[in-house]
Amino acid sequence: MPGMAEQALDRAAALLRGATRVAVLTGAGVSAESGVPTFRGGGGLWEGQPVEQVATPEAFLDDPERVWRFYEQRRRNLLPIRPNPAHDVLAGWQDRFPDYTLVTQNVDGLHQAAGARGVLELHGNIWRVRCAGCGRERVERTVPLPELPPRCTACGALERPGVVWFGEMLPQDVLARAWEAAEQAQVLVVVGTSALVYPAAGLLEVTARHGGTVIEVNPEPSALAFIAAIALRGPAGEVLPRLAARVGGPR
Ligand code: OAD
Repeated sequence: MPGMAEQALDRAAALLRGATRVAVLTGAGVSAESGVPTFRGGGGLWEGQPVEQVATPEAFLDDPERVWRFYEQRRRNLLPIRPNPAHDVLAGWQDRFPDYTLVTQNVDGLHQAAGARGVLELHGNIWRVRCAGCGRERVERTVPLPELPPRCTACGALERPGVVWFGEMLPQDVLARAWEAAEQAQVLVVVGTSALVYPAAGLLEVTARHGGTVIEVNPEPSALAFIAAIALRGPAGEVLPRLAARVGGPR
């Protein structure tokens, strides 16, 4: 992390040491060092992949098999992927801060794989499938799926990936809990998100508006970097362990 200001790390650590209510918002960047491609930018998932053809309800209505092929490929790629030190730190903090909420836009389940409990998944989880007819939801880790697109054994309708697509509502109970955590957080640590997709990105604004401090961990400034009081510019898998070492263990 050449050039990353030690001073910024020290300031961030001091803030966190003095905080009891801490929230974290993660995006694709937190899984980058595990080998999961991000969405935007060179080599990103959306590069050369028209989002509206694979990640919208219209696409699923139009061609469910095409949509499933895209998700099946992602599930296949995720299968051998393991959490990285950034996920480990963020899971460990649940025992460090009395009031801690981990909110993610990621669907990869890597926070839970690192041991995090009660993760608020704003965009769902790729290891769940939901019936488009009766709404029944189930965990499905089989790759490849025996039948594509899969069908609901209860009602016979098509099943869909348990993720949130563009143009869809987020799970309202999950969003409400994330909103409340952002309102109450003394510190919100924002890790590896471009902060371009709402309402998730709105959580930064919520914390700042309620007098909390936003810390951004990202090699590049996000679209809402101006809201962050402290920027830790570097890969999450390196920055977060250094930050955690300064913050210290459970009180
Ligand atoms: P993006 O691909 O938009 O942004 C990834 C961010 O991670 C960028 O700001 C990168 O600079 C940063 N990054 C890259 N490597 C990193 C590393 N090693 N450590 C820390 N940061 C790193 O992904 P998201 O912001 O998650 O939604 O995208 C938000 C939503 O848009 C996704 O949940 C998905 C997507 O389209 C839906 O599918 C509904």
